[in-house]
Amino acid sequence: MTDCMIAALTARRVWDSRGRPTVEVEVTTGDGSVGRGIAPAGASRGSREAVDARDGGPRLGGLDVQRARGAIRDTIAPRLIGTKLSSPLDADRVLLELDGTPTKSALGGNALVATSIACAQAFAAVRREPLYRVLAGDGPLTVPLPEIQIFGGGAHAGRRIDFQDLMVVARSATSVEQALEMTAEVYLAAGRLMAARNAISGVADEGGFWPAFATNEEAIETLLRAIETAGYTPGDEVAISLDIAASELGREGRYRLGLESRSIDSDAMIEMLGGWLDRYPICSIEDPLAEDDLEGMRRFTAAYGKRVQIIGDDFLVTNASFVEAAAKQGACNAVLIKPNQVGTLSEALQALRCAREQGWGTIVSARSGETEDSTICDLAIGWNSRQLKVGSITRGERTVKWNALIRAEQALGASASVRGDWLPLSTAR
Ligand code: PGA
Ligand code: ZN
Repeated sequence: MTDCMIAALTARRVWDSRGRPTVEVEVTTGDGSVGRGIAPAGASRGSREAVDARDGGPRLGGLDVQRARGAIRDTIAPRLIGTKLSSPLDADRVLLELDGTPTKSALGGNALVATSIACAQAFAAVRREPLYRVLAGDGPLTVPLPEIQIFGGGAHAGRRIDFQDLMVVARSATSVEQALEMTAEVYLAAGRLMAARNAISGVADEGGFWPAFATNEEAIETLLRAIETAGYTPGDEVAISLDIAASELGREGRYRLGLESRSIDSDAMIEMLGGWLDRYPICSIEDPLAEDDLEGMRRFTAAYGKRVQIIGDDFLVTNASFVEAAAKQGACNAVLIKPNQVGTLSEALQALRCAREQGWGTIVSARSGETEDSTICDLAIGWNSRQLKVGSITRGERTVKWNALIRAEQALGASASVRGDWLPLSTAR
């Protein structure tokens, strides 16, 4: 038996950060090396994402994963056991062939992504190297710029505010270590501001404060004040990044802002967001329009694409062909890379490469339902994505990722870290 031969492949049910079941795959190779992968789960999902195998029925809200376990045990394991891995993403070919559907509806996106990660980690374990090194090959290794949530909203906070993430990017930081310290200061300052107004009501799904604001704009104003009271210059030192997650707000060009009790059309949405880009130092905005509002996204990109990073998440669902089409149509200028949106690491890499060929930005991202699996850090570093989005700077399933970046930065040297000052600021003219 060769070192890289898959000797055993088992699946088990484990739990994610929302207390929901998910699937973990463990691969053991011929030399006894072990690789594990756990499927994360989204709450604001794009309609074209890979579908997870979940059991349905009354138990555990229908979310149990025995069907995914069964697919791994009965279909995936018999085919992969005895196979030799000759590269970290080698198993994906077999997985894609076994599933054979565009949305992974046969075996389940969760079964596929957990297996894909476990095989990649097992390959790296045989090499006695971190996965990021193996993925990089002869290419550059860079420690990505963190994009970190301060307030959570939308589907992650009972729709307490309409949009989903208010984040910061420490643009002036010269290392991840410094970026995390600056962000922690902003997080503390935001907590103090909210406590002073008696507005602390816990944390949202990704660890940012649960926002107790009267309007959506008040959330941005409070974040701006938190940056200032932490002692930083908004924009140059710490910039604002938003995920509107607009697909959650409506369909067919109508957007419902529940907090403000009004419904607006695509034009009004573009005008409102454009007003924010003019007034606040924003470096990135994600899903400003819904996944079915291509015209809106094109107009938004034509108007603001030179001044700010415009990320497609639900809009592109980590799919290379959607990225290519959007680039041709002039919609978005960056892509969020979430492997479980598409099913395998290989397909996520394809989407990332396709975006890079268009000259787009690439941001590897966690999901709102996460675990201690930190493989996305390896992807961000090894694939040179240059940006990473994980949620806030609290809660173990988030800090496990930031702490992995700190370790990588120490191993690679701070010169491998990506600075944020190349990201344009919406207020700079
Ligand atoms: P999700 O949200 O994981 O709940 O889909 C994360 C995001 O929109 O970036
Ligand atoms: Zn998003």
